[in-house]
Amino acid sequence: MFHLRLKIFIVIFSSVFVTSQQTNNCTITEFSQVERVLRECTDIVISNLTVPGGVQLKLDLQKGSIVTFNGNIVFEVAYWDGHLIQVSGEGVLVQGAPGSVLNAQGEKYWDGMGGDGGVRKPKFFEISTTGGSVFRNIYLLNCAHFCVGVSATDVHIYGFTIDVVAGNLNGGLNTDGFGVSNSHNVLIENSVVMNQDDCVVVNFGSNMVFRNLQCYGSHGLSFSLGSSHTDDDNAVTQNITFEDCIVANGLYGIHLKTKRGTGLLRDVIYKNIRLSGITEDGIYINQDYGDIGNTARPYQISNLKISNVYGSVNGQLARPVHVVCNKDACSDWTWSNINILGTGKSYCNYLPSGFVC
Ligand SMILES: *[C@@H]1O[C@H](CO)[C@@H](O)[C@H](O)[C@H]1NC(C)=O
Ligand SMILES: *[C@@H]1O[C@H](CO)[C@@H](O)[C@H](O)[C@H]1NC(C)=O
Ligand SMILES: *[C@@H]1O[C@H](CO)[C@@H](O)[C@H](O)[C@H]1NC(C)=O
Repeated sequence: MFHLRLKIFIVIFSSVFVTSQQTNNCTITEFSQVERVLRECTDIVISNLTVPGGVQLKLDLQKGSIVTFNGNIVFEVAYWDGHLIQVSGEGVLVQGAPGSVLNAQGEKYWDGMGGDGGVRKPKFFEISTTGGSVFRNIYLLNCAHFCVGVSATDVHIYGFTIDVVAGNLNGGLNTDGFGVSNSHNVLIENSVVMNQDDCVVVNFGSNMVFRNLQCYGSHGLSFSLGSSHTDDDNAVTQNITFEDCIVANGLYGIHLKTKRGTGLLRDVIYKNIRLSGITEDGIYINQDYGDIGNTARPYQISNLKISNVYGSVNGQLARPVHVVCNKDACSDWTWSNINILGTGKSYCNYLPSGFVC
């Protein structure tokens, strides 16, 4: 008798236990489920979700969480600044299942005016994680404005496709691929970007590698320094490598631009970069960004190594190389094996060692 009761008790207890496990459902298919699932789960699936316009899919994840996007994630239209999705957490893994697409519906915002005019356009995907987080195999479609913003420490991003091809003929602008600011220890690799602004742009940070990127239609592999809030005076951005990349059909191949402030960019490497169909400059370094012709500003660029950059620029005026340094602000540049074909004439007001302009 006693045994039977105990058995019944165990059966009831364990079935309650199993039921509570089952109701702990970690798949999000409706926006209203987001809050509960983030609270209760660390292995989360986001499946065929429609995110209402004007609200953020904010994934503030528990440590070590896994998030998998499944099917079509669609962000409804609203004229606001975004980001449409923001991920924070420590040591998290965020991934796209095969065939999954995150769709910002940029085609419903584009008006040829980008971030500076026309309707307000949300930025898409913001990564602000720490502690060895990984983002992989995510397909982003039709960014309205900036695509991926990275403001993170120790992050590995790979297997991304940023597809804003439709913006080429439909007024897409400022659709930067990866915008990296205030970040340290970043690796972005094996990804494809098809867009209408920088493929990668670094604003501030250190210890980054970008490799095996294919950039189509972009403004190239870039730095934009001295123009945002995170790179105030005396900011040092350093130890950044771009390698084994392709830039095709873009405005620029490599573009370093600096603006105001007394900051410093140093220890930068570009190597094994193939250019094709570039329409303005193969390599464009301009410290007079935003005030063309003013080379009196103090921003410094030191120890810039560029090697094995090859291919072609297209069009009558397209220059292989175009360097405008501030007065006494460029030092210790070493270039080798620069073989960029084009009919425009290169111009350099500073001569890197190993290079004839
Ligand atoms: C979890 O929720 C999803 C979507 O709401 C549903 O399709 C699935 O059947 C649920 N799973 C369980 C075990 O309840
Ligand atoms: C998502 O929706 C598509 C059709 O829109 C469907 O084929 C697919 O099975 C759905 N995926 C899931 C996981 O529900
Ligand atoms: C430069 O960055 C790379 C990649 O993040 C890192 O492995 C290396 O230790 C850094 N070097 C220095 C001197 O900090």
